[in-house]
Amino acid sequence: MANDNLKKAKKAKNDEFYTQWADIEKEIMAYIDYNPDVFRDKTILLPCDDPEWSNFTKFFAQNFETFGLKKLISTSYAYESKKVNMPYQTSLFEEQAPHFDPDINKIRGKIFTLDHDTNKNGVIDIDDLEWQYLEGDGDFRSDEVKKLRDEADIIITNPPFSLFREFLAWIINSDKKFIIIGHQNAITYREVFQLIKNNKCWLGNGFKGGAGHFISNYIDYATAGNHIDGMIRVSGVNWFTNIEHGRRHQPLKLMTMADNIKHSKHKEIKGHEYRKYFNYDAIEVPFTDAIPKDYIGVMGVPITFMDKYCPEQFEIIGLGIATSGLECGVQPYTEEHRNYRKNVQKRGTVDGDLYMLDDNNHPVVPYGRILIKKRGN
Ligand SMILES: C[S@@+](CC[C@H](N)C(=O)[O-])C[C@H]1O[C@@H](n2cnc3c(N)ncnc32)[C@H](O)[C@@H]1O
Repeated sequence: MANDNLKKAKKAKNDEFYTQWADIEKEIMAYIDYNPDVFRDKTILLPCDDPEWSNFTKFFAQNFETFGLKKLISTSYAYESKKVNMPYQTSLFEEQAPHFDPDINKIRGKIFTLDHDTNKNGVIDIDDLEWQYLEGDGDFRSDEVKKLRDEADIIITNPPFSLFREFLAWIINSDKKFIIIGHQNAITYREVFQLIKNNKCWLGNGFKGGAGHFISNYIDYATAGNHIDGMIRVSGVNWFTNIEHGRRHQPLKLMTMADNIKHSKHKEIKGHEYRKYFNYDAIEVPFTDAIPKDYIGVMGVPITFMDKYCPEQFEIIGLGIATSGLECGVQPYTEEHRNYRKNVQKRGTVDGDLYMLDDNNHPVVPYGRILIKKRGN
């Protein structure tokens, strides 16, 4: 198989997994708990969806009246455009529609809408969904899906991971509310971090245990015929949103620096002083639960801190990685440390990354760190 196809398959494989009803429900209820009217009279767009496979459309259609929605729009991406060897199936729902056309069914995207009681049974629910073919394949970047985005108040989906950056930019350009799934690594993308720092995006309520279990059902191109059917576990996934929820306002329960040094469960903390970076005026805190509550200076904390971030408790100063680091004042490597790291430690050096010095004055680079400061100092 050509390398190109392998790459395509890998990319598509990473994009073809579907969110469980329970995870959608858990997340969405966190916004409802905070504000019961959060979806009232709103038009919700679920792009990158596929009601045959996805629970998003089903969940919102079934809760249409409970949430007081004005309109639900869901679009699906054409089978042929997915470039993954998923079994091609049409549903009775599609086939029984008078406009079903087997010739274009594989190549066009679809739009599903729900806004009134089509079957006149007194309730608006999934049985009232109507669908049409889109002009194109349902790519979220197409003009017709952009138009739907502009019509919507809130955009909710699990977008293709390979296009996360582009997808988030697509939403931000339209200034809409959103709740989308992404990997926590996306926090370190420069443009995503800027949104987080400026309070335009934050993490959602989250998946249980910090990992998502997604429904996957495709035939893997690369291992032709290997039918992977079932669930895949993806660690480090989270929801990204700009809608308020309660957990975001619960401050972390923390100990003082002295208590951490005395009682911490982490051997790196217990009995040691907190270390300082060599190239930035801040202390290194390698575990979120070891953040000292009485420290008034800047602290470098793991990326996973963002899941516990409460804006009333901490201020985000910057990201101690590469260009973002340089932008917030992290000093580049000294010539000596750069050479040592390259020649002796055989590691790459990126200016803007935070580093410390060990007892022999040799550079030690921690994983990516977010720089934070306690509020109200
Ligand atoms: C991670 S899956 C999630 C599906 C569904 N939203 C869910 O969570 O159950 C992402 C979906 O986006 C589709 N997709 C990939 N590229 C797309 C594009 N450019 N425009 C729209 N959808 C796309 C994939 O085919 C896949 O069905």
